[in-house]
Amino acid sequence: TENHLRHMESLATLPSGARKIPQLNAMILGEAMASEENDLVYPSEEFSLQAHVPRPAKYLEMYKRSVEDPAGFWSDIASEFYWEQKWGQQVYSENLDVRKGTVNIEWFKGGITNICYNCLDRNVESGNGDKVALYWEGNDPGFDGSLTYKQLLAQVCQLANYLKDVGVKKGDAVVIYLPMLMELPIAMLACARIGAVHSVVFAGFSAESLAQRIMDCKPKVVLTSNAVRRGAKVIGLKDIVDAALLESAKNGASVDICLTYENKSAMTRESTNWKERRDIWWQDVVPKYPATCDVEWVDAEDPLFLLYTSGSTGKPKGVLHTTGGYMVYTGTTFKYAFDYKPSDVYWCTADCGWITGHSYVTYGPLLNGATCLAPTYPAAGRCWEIVDKYKVTIFYTAPTLVRSLMRAGDEYVTRYSRKSLRVLGSVGEPINPSAWRWFFNVVGESRCPISDTWWQTETGGFMITPLPGAWPQKPGSATYPFFGVQPVIVDEKGNEIEGECSGYLCIKHSWPSAFRTLYGDHERYETTYFKPFPGYYFTGDGCSRDNDGYYWLTGRVDDVINVSGHRIGTAEVESALVSHPQCAEAAVVGVEHEVKGQGIYVFVTLVEGVPCTEELRKSLIQTVRSQIGAFAAPDKIHWAPGLPKTRSGKIMRRILRKIASRQLGELGDTSTLADPSVVDQLIALADV
Ligand code: WT7
Repeated sequence: TENHLRHMESLATLPSGARKIPQLNAMILGEAMASEENDLVYPSEEFSLQAHVPRPAKYLEMYKRSVEDPAGFWSDIASEFYWEQKWGQQVYSENLDVRKGTVNIEWFKGGITNICYNCLDRNVESGNGDKVALYWEGNDPGFDGSLTYKQLLAQVCQLANYLKDVGVKKGDAVVIYLPMLMELPIAMLACARIGAVHSVVFAGFSAESLAQRIMDCKPKVVLTSNAVRRGAKVIGLKDIVDAALLESAKNGASVDICLTYENKSAMTRESTNWKERRDIWWQDVVPKYPATCDVEWVDAEDPLFLLYTSGSTGKPKGVLHTTGGYMVYTGTTFKYAFDYKPSDVYWCTADCGWITGHSYVTYGPLLNGATCLAPTYPAAGRCWEIVDKYKVTIFYTAPTLVRSLMRAGDEYVTRYSRKSLRVLGSVGEPINPSAWRWFFNVVGESRCPISDTWWQTETGGFMITPLPGAWPQKPGSATYPFFGVQPVIVDEKGNEIEGECSGYLCIKHSWPSAFRTLYGDHERYETTYFKPFPGYYFTGDGCSRDNDGYYWLTGRVDDVINVSGHRIGTAEVESALVSHPQCAEAAVVGVEHEVKGQGIYVFVTLVEGVPCTEELRKSLIQTVRSQIGAFAAPDKIHWAPGLPKTRSGKIMRRILRKIASRQLGELGDTSTLADPSVVDQLIALADV
């Protein structure tokens, strides 16, 4: 940290000086656009002057206080939110060191609040009731809608009243399996209002994945919709839920109520399968309830939500976030990382089924009283049409979308004005410098800083992120840590390395929105995140730091792959594959993919005597689709008569990765393999 501060200090004198002369500024910018990745891209003078954090020195001053006096720093910020009762004497308490006992993190304990109240009631009460909270843009042009803060509050209250009426109480889990309709954030906020713990399952997950999550958190109520349209396709969500509920009931997790939103544009009631008593049409009951509902005041450390994410074993992890710290942190990071102002129109293309949709479609923006556009299905042409239609000022998306838009050609972009845009954002995976430049030069016309935000489901909010007016950017670097975040890079042995270096990214000390546990498995929480490098939170990412103190995230170092910004555990895909009756063994690795970032590459050993056919290839892919979801479908199946294993039977993935990426000259030492000849067999079958 000291080193980081030193770097920042030396940098602090440079950009503000340079920025005094606009021509020089433009020159630096021009140069940076033309040459190497390490060049600095400066925000314009105009942008910096109006920014919340206009200079490196200002960041430095705030950052310094945030790490030297976290309690003071965060309690000042937390005081800007509404608390029914202030937190106790200790702003936070933590133990991140497994050697000293149970890992434990608490922020604002004893503080009584409600995040739904802070998102909605507070904005209505302060005179922003008629401001648009959410714009919704449908699958097809012409289907759109909006809700003001007042209207959103009313809808949230009706659903909250319904949930209370059917017996949902503080602390109960509610599973939400909805596509990106307004009803999805409404459902999340309704749960938060009554102190229920929502667990959103992305509506692209299969029945089996949904069942697995239902069996883990045992909700009384599931909220869903009968169907959704994706492009020309209709997906029968209710059938998926029916199958999941059947499966979970068999395993002792029966759900009393399945509240189903009739999505008329996709499917009629008549063609929806129905189980009387358990299944209830949303539109038949919810509108009958009063449009006001008292808030359930909760402790800052009461759980707000569970969100399942992939790890390195087959079983998904229920990441648990609590209320107070999450609220303070998501609201604050949103404000600073996007330099949010009340006049902004914000569009985040994420689905609420992932953490980005929790923290930066729903809670973060609404806490700031922002106007948000909920995502649609952004085809190459429609993206910028929508930007112009709503005069979007902040556009936050994933590198995979940037790359696919880039491939479609500049003309799809330049056809539209985009002059409303002022800040761009990127999340989900490292953004390659060429995609960064295209995003910056073509989409943002070299006018909009890019906030490349590095964070995770577990961190709840942005950890390493540009503050867009504060300092120059480097294409592909997430720049510096947010206030209160102390990143460290460690070597294999867990020793902190200073200065310019690469290694494993860990975080020292807690931050308000850190996850508190894995639901029902605190031991796994400690083992996965705190035992690898004692004393630190281990992120699972590799990272390097350059001479100026900029951080460069380099991707996962564990058995997790990142496909289009979606995290997929190799073990999950493997266990789906081996459930196929003709698959004897499977090994999954990630390979570079032009659009998706990483693609899923599978080595499959078939049961003795089974021939490798095209049909079987399709059937294996189908198995993964139906067990996990379409987004996890393998890109390549490589027939493998055998897998490279050590004498003790461990699959050597390092070798498989090299074969998958055709780096055949870099296989390394294969002599420790039980049977080195499998490598040649695999190479021979590479393009079969
Ligand atoms: C993993 C977390 C955080 C919301 C979306 C994904 C990768 C995320 C970046 C970035 C480089 C990134 C990391 C991380 N990642 N953002 N800006 N630059 N890598 O959340 O599913 O929890 O995945 O996504 O590898 O560990 P998630």
